[in-house]
Amino acid sequence: MRKVLILNGPNLNMLGKRPKEHYGTLTLAEINQRLMEANEGYFDLEFFQSNSEGELITRLQQSMDYFGILINPASYTHTSIGIRDALEMCNGIKLEIHLSKVDEREAFRRVNLIRDICEKCFQGKHENSYLEALNYLKEIVKNS
Ligand code: DQA
Repeated sequence: MRKVLILNGPNLNMLGKRPKEHYGTLTLAEINQRLMEANEGYFDLEFFQSNSEGELITRLQQSMDYFGILINPASYTHTSIGIRDALEMCNGIKLEIHLSKVDEREAFRRVNLIRDICEKCFQGKHENSYLEALNYLKEIVKNS
């Protein structure tokens, strides 16, 4: 079974309480539930969230040969060379996810340390950013 890691960074455990105009209304558990429903048995989905950079790096190191990685590093998108370096070692399809339209927000959010090593970025669609990324992987499998 093809493994797919859905990795979420700091403060995403607080979804539901964060500004709704950027992040929508769903909790992370609800987003993960929608992903499980949309999966239709295509992938072995693994979910991991941490507020700690080191834990996120360790989880990536354990996922080098996964079929795909859906990663929302949250604030670490803009700061973490360590997460970038760990992600770069992963051989699977790497998709960058953001709930908000990160490219159109404050200037500091336009610093992006993972964009160039990801195959595609899904942003600005709240929970649908994750769902569209999962669909993207499903299409790859369907067409293979
Ligand atoms: C985010 C955007 C980041 O700039 C921010 O720090 C987050 C979430 C998003 O999903 O829109 O925490 O990655």
